[in-house]
Amino acid sequence: LFACAWTFSRGSPDLDHLPPDDRPEIAFAGRSNVGKSSLINTLVGQRALARASNTPGRTQELNFFTDPAADLYLVDMPGYGFAEAPKDKVAAWNRTLRGYLSGRRTLLRVFVLVDARHGLKPVDDEIMGLLDSAAVSYQVILTKADKISRTDLDRVMAHTIQSLSKHPAAYPHVIATSAETAMGFEDLRAVVAKLLDA
Ligand code: GTP
Ligand code: MG
Repeated sequence: LFACAWTFSRGSPDLDHLPPDDRPEIAFAGRSNVGKSSLINTLVGQRALARASNTPGRTQELNFFTDPAADLYLVDMPGYGFAEAPKDKVAAWNRTLRGYLSGRRTLLRVFVLVDARHGLKPVDDEIMGLLDSAAVSYQVILTKADKISRTDLDRVMAHTIQSLSKHPAAYPHVIATSAETAMGFEDLRAVVAKLLDA
C-alpha cells in the first residue's frame, strides 16, 4: 500500500471541484502548520508529494493524492485556525472544510493532527464536534513528538485521551508521531491498512 507511487490527483479550492466520490478517502485535518503535509509524505515515503513549509497556510486547497494500485485518496487539507489570511478567505475556507468534513460520503476516516507540544485547542474541539454531529469516524494523531521529552509526551497523551471521552465519534487510540524520526508510522500504517481491510 505505501510502497506505491502516489501522485497528486487534484486540488480543489471549494466543494464544486472535488473529484468524483468513487473510492474511499482518508483526510488529514488540523491547525495550520501542525504537520499535515509532512505526515502524508512520511506515511507514503515520498518526501515531496505534498508541499510542506514552515510558513503557516502553505496548503490552500483540498489536495487529493492517489495511487492506481491502492484505490484510495489521501486528502491533504488546508489548516484551520489560520488567522493571518484575509478574513473573507478564512471564512470561505472554513465553509469548505466544514462542508467537506461533514458531507463527504466516501470519507473513511479523518485524522485530526494535533501538535504534541500544544495538545488539543478549542478549534480542534470544534472540528471534532462537527465530526461527531456528522458521525464521521476520526482519530487524533499527535505530531512533532521529537520536539518534546518523553515525560511531556506521556502527559499530553494522557490528557488528550481523557478529552476524547466527550467525543462519541472519536476513535480512542491516539498515535504519537514524528515525521523527523518516523516514530509512530508503523502504527499509523497498520491502522490505515486495517481500515481498508474492513
Ligand atoms: P499548512 O499546510 O500550512 O496548514 O501546514 P501543515 O500542517 O501541512 O504543516 P507542514 O507539513 O507544512 O509542516 C510545517 C512545519 O513543521 C514544516 O517546517 C515541517 O518541516 C515541520 N514539521 C512537520 N512535522 C514535523 C515533525 O514531526 N517534527 C519536526 N521537528 N518538524 C516537523
Ligand atoms: Mg500543508
